[in-house]
Amino acid sequence: MALVNRTEPFDFVIFGATGDLTRRKLMPAFLRRFHAREFDQEARIICTARSELTTEQFRNLCSATLHEFAPDIAKDTETLNQFLGLLTYVYLDATQEGPHWQELGATLSDAERTRVFYFATAPALYSAICAGLSHHNLITQHTRVVLEKPIGTDLQSANEINEGVGRYFSEDAIYRIDHYLGKEGVQNILALRFANPALEQLWSSQAIAHVQITAAETVGVGDRGSYYDKSGALRDMVQNHLLQVLCMVAMDAPASLRADDLRNEKLKVLNALRPMTPDMVRKNVIRGQYTAGHIKGEDVPGYVDDLKTGRPSDTETFVAIRTKIRTARWGDTPFYLRTGKRLATKTTEIVIQFRPQVWPIFTNMPSPGRLVIRIAPHEELSLVLAARDPGAGGFRVRNATLHMSYENEFAVQYQDSYERLLLDAVRGDPALFIRRDEVEASWKWVEPILDSWRYALTPLEPYPAGSWGPATTRALLARDGALWHEDMLT
Ligand code: BG6
Repeated sequence: MALVNRTEPFDFVIFGATGDLTRRKLMPAFLRRFHAREFDQEARIICTARSELTTEQFRNLCSATLHEFAPDIAKDTETLNQFLGLLTYVYLDATQEGPHWQELGATLSDAERTRVFYFATAPALYSAICAGLSHHNLITQHTRVVLEKPIGTDLQSANEINEGVGRYFSEDAIYRIDHYLGKEGVQNILALRFANPALEQLWSSQAIAHVQITAAETVGVGDRGSYYDKSGALRDMVQNHLLQVLCMVAMDAPASLRADDLRNEKLKVLNALRPMTPDMVRKNVIRGQYTAGHIKGEDVPGYVDDLKTGRPSDTETFVAIRTKIRTARWGDTPFYLRTGKRLATKTTEIVIQFRPQVWPIFTNMPSPGRLVIRIAPHEELSLVLAARDPGAGGFRVRNATLHMSYENEFAVQYQDSYERLLLDAVRGDPALFIRRDEVEASWKWVEPILDSWRYALTPLEPYPAGSWGPATTRALLARDGALWHEDMLT
């Protein structure tokens, strides 16, 4: 029987409880962990938002949401009702003084109990919520705060948010979420690298020609246009998720899995990224925007039509970057990062391309081997190796693939990343959350790209929905003699 790691009693307070994130991610994640019996019996979830609802009404809304986003568990009426029983709703406008704050205070249990405040609101409200919590003495010694992204839109706004929250909470009580770190496949990079010493021996420029990190989506901007159009792919995906994955791939072994050991190593990678000058941005960054096209046989509109504002937009829905990490380990290895909406397929993967044989004794060498770490849609590992082709005469060599699916191997359904991260926040384990200096280092690297774009130094290139982005994306790799994964033949 699976070991159940039950939490201590806790009060979990969500600000922004009627929003999309709470509906789609937080509540389903909580229901699943509750169903797995990880909740202490006295655990409580207190939901606040600016809609005037009673607890009963909120529970009804939540029930409908759970039938939609966690139907397999929600259909078990007894579990669902027990879970809904943990929820209390408190109307609260964080920007206003008023009796609602006292009501929130009265709903909370005693000060000895773990308290987690989860901010699923616009980041502009974070400071005001903290001030309200402090003013009403709701911050105890056992309180943590979880911040959703985006932490700012540039370095300055990120600093303002961090300082606003930092006035009321110490850094070790601030949990900045990046849901990519909660993904099983991303955590697996640590096991792959640091539990397999033979592989770690190869993990450097000596054996690795280049690394590709791709997070491709088939979905468009959906109904998030008003947020996305101000953000774009660089802020939405690269500054946080892709850079975090890059850190996991490139960092040196941490002294332990403790939060600060991990974060110190990640920070070194971020600080070692080759800084982007305007000239480098022009040569090493591609930005694109999807136009109408076809995905899986269906016609889909372009970005501007998806926005439904009737106005053109110069926001990028695709970005590809070529960079290097200035360390002894990686100096000669380009890292390619790429993400986009409405691309050919949904995949998140890392390709580790090994170097070719320096003195080939076989006349017909196939392309050099590679390791593919797939994170989505399924966690998989493929190692492409050269093998003797038994069919042909003479000595012919071709590529063959060793493949492992983690789900088949371990016969489990992996948790959604929010399931893992929410309970890590409850248990007080910050290892998979981002420290302030990591946020700052990421923005420092990303900001010159944004600045160059502001001066239109890089054109915004259209790409048809269902493709792999602007045609120039291939040229970014071609100059290193490299191919994107989908262009590799075997
Ligand atoms: C979010 C972005 O952080 O990550 C979204 O805001 C994006 O635009 C999503 O769609 C992708 O997450 P995942 O887990 O589906 O790769």
